[in-house]
Amino acid sequence: MDLFASKSLFFLLSFLGCCAGVDILEEGPVDVVLGKDVTLKTRNVNPPFFVVTWTFATGSEPVVTMTKDQTKVDDTYAGRVEVNSTTASLTLKGTKPEDSGVYSLSIVSPDLTTQAGEIELRVLEPVSAVAITPNLAEAIEHNSTVVLTCSAKGSFLKFSWLKGTTPIVADGKRITIKDEELSSTLTVTDVLRTDLDGPVTCTAKNKLEEEKSPAFNLVVHYGPEKVTMTPAKTPEFIQSGSSFNLTCAAVSSPAATFTWYHNQKEIKTTGPVLTLKEIQAQGLGKTPEEYTCRASNDKTKRVIASPGVTFALMDPIIGAKLTGPTGTLIAGNSTANLTCTVTSGTVKTRTWTKDGKPLAASSRVVFSSDLSSVMLSPLQKEDNGEFTCALSNPVTQSKASHKMVVNYGPEPVTVSGETAVEVNDPVTLTCAAASMPPATYTWKFNGTLTQVKTAQYVIEKAVYKSTGTYTCEAFNSVTKKTTTHTHTLSVKEEGALDDGLSDGAIAGIVIAVIVALAAAIGLIMYCRQKVP
Ligand SMILES: *[C@@H]1O[C@H](CO)[C@@H](O)[C@H](O)[C@H]1NC(C)=O
Ligand SMILES: *[C@@H]1O[C@H](CO)[C@@H](O)[C@H](O)[C@H]1NC(C)=O
Ligand SMILES: *[C@@H]1O[C@H](CO)[C@@H](O)[C@H](O)[C@H]1NC(C)=O
Ligand SMILES: *[C@@H]1O[C@H](CO)[C@@H](O)[C@H](O)[C@H]1NC(C)=O
Ligand SMILES: *[C@@H]1O[C@H](CO)[C@@H](O)[C@H](O)[C@H]1NC(C)=O
Repeated sequence: MDLFASKSLFFLLSFLGCCAGVDILEEGPVDVVLGKDVTLKTRNVNPPFFVVTWTFATGSEPVVTMTKDQTKVDDTYAGRVEVNSTTASLTLKGTKPEDSGVYSLSIVSPDLTTQAGEIELRVLEPVSAVAITPNLAEAIEHNSTVVLTCSAKGSFLKFSWLKGTTPIVADGKRITIKDEELSSTLTVTDVLRTDLDGPVTCTAKNKLEEEKSPAFNLVVHYGPEKVTMTPAKTPEFIQSGSSFNLTCAAVSSPAATFTWYHNQKEIKTTGPVLTLKEIQAQGLGKTPEEYTCRASNDKTKRVIASPGVTFALMDPIIGAKLTGPTGTLIAGNSTANLTCTVTSGTVKTRTWTKDGKPLAASSRVVFSSDLSSVMLSPLQKEDNGEFTCALSNPVTQSKASHKMVVNYGPEPVTVSGETAVEVNDPVTLTCAAASMPPATYTWKFNGTLTQVKTAQYVIEKAVYKSTGTYTCEAFNSVTKKTTTHTHTLSVKEEGALDDGLSDGAIAGIVIAVIVALAAAIGLIMYCRQKVP
């Protein structure tokens, strides 16, 4: 089809449309809310008009007829209709339900050509009373089928559902929506807590109006689930009397109630916390047992057990004490018993140390079979020192010490110092003897007691009279024993103790003498031969 032909066709069609009257009214239907005013508008009309006639429903009297001089309104519409003289539009005031229907317009021009048209008017009832009604007051997750009905008043209603601000749409499985003229039904089978965690609202609307229902909240009960025990792990033994306790928690609506079990037997207590105090009060904890809690939900009737923890209670070690002998101990003669005791608690291990090193058993060191005491017999000087017993059980460690003093000695005395000096030389003699308690010292010169009572005997300047014997006596006041040692000192004239010629010098002199002697003998022999 060429361009000219298509243009011609368009012109022809519009001309026909003009004369058939489809063009002078807007396309319907026109909607109006009941009681409101509405204007049925015209278009493509050109005043002046010779006769304008608006008719409601075919075959009845015209609603209004307007001529140049006069506008005639049907009695039933008196005061309710107006026709615009320049546009021929019809205004209908205070619409009633029975105003719905098709209105026809006919316009006769002064040249007696006629235009006609039809339009449908719909008087809509206002949207009101939008409300959601549930089939259940409260629902159980996974169990309940929730049916929410949104009802409303109004005409040509369309419904929509919102959860918060998100539209609820049918998923073809659990969630279905069925719309009817004055209601919409939202059905959720096996409801989940998240399905309707609203608020849920329903909106009813038509082209002119919309109204939202009041917010609706449905309680969906769920759980218990994620039933946990804190702590999730416990040591094998827990110190009795400590602040330890077990706490159970669960995700649940309404909140779960808790019961407690030891080895599947119920414990008479409730609440989410099981304290050690209660465990002890009921005489439990003597042997390792498994503790669990069960969370139950009154509404869902479900009961879920937590994972278990297993432990036993153990008394801590209190009042460790190491008791040793109280009297005076003498090496080689005394016996010592060391006993390690506690006021309370179960002792699992005992270890003994002396001065930080393990104490080994021997013929002299004998432990009792339970290691609670040790007997040292006979005591030796090496037994001086600190004995410690360390006690432990899985919940406590404790230790106690005893310092042991073993008296011994004095052992044989040694005296160190000069044995020979020159006149005026200083002399220091030192006496020593191992002893516990430390020995007291006295000195004798040539067998006669002196005033010196210290370990050292000091002579500032030796004189000839200092020559003689020096006897040190060491005395232990506890063992009452004495040991002695005698030292001899000789005092010589000045220079007497100077060093003589060295070995090298002596050797040199001897060689020189031999060489000289040999030379002399040789000379004599030579001279004898020469002299007749
Ligand atoms: C007729 O309609 C026109 C256009 O809508 C408007 O301007 C005019 O005021 C109306 N006349 C009367 C008498 O209502
Ligand atoms: C939930 O459904 C199960 C199985 O259909 C049923 O046994 C149970 O009693 C229901 N629970 C409640 C609380 O209705
Ligand atoms: C040991 O003790 C006895 C009696 O108390 C005593 O007779 C003896 O001398 C003592 N021995 C030693 C080495 O102290
Ligand atoms: C030490 O203990 C042993 C064995 O228990 C006992 O025979 C001995 O008399 C005790 N000795 C002392 C000094 O307490
Ligand atoms: C001490 O004894 C020595 C030898 O026994 C003797 O030479 C010396 O003169 C004596 N000294 C005194 C002061 O008696």
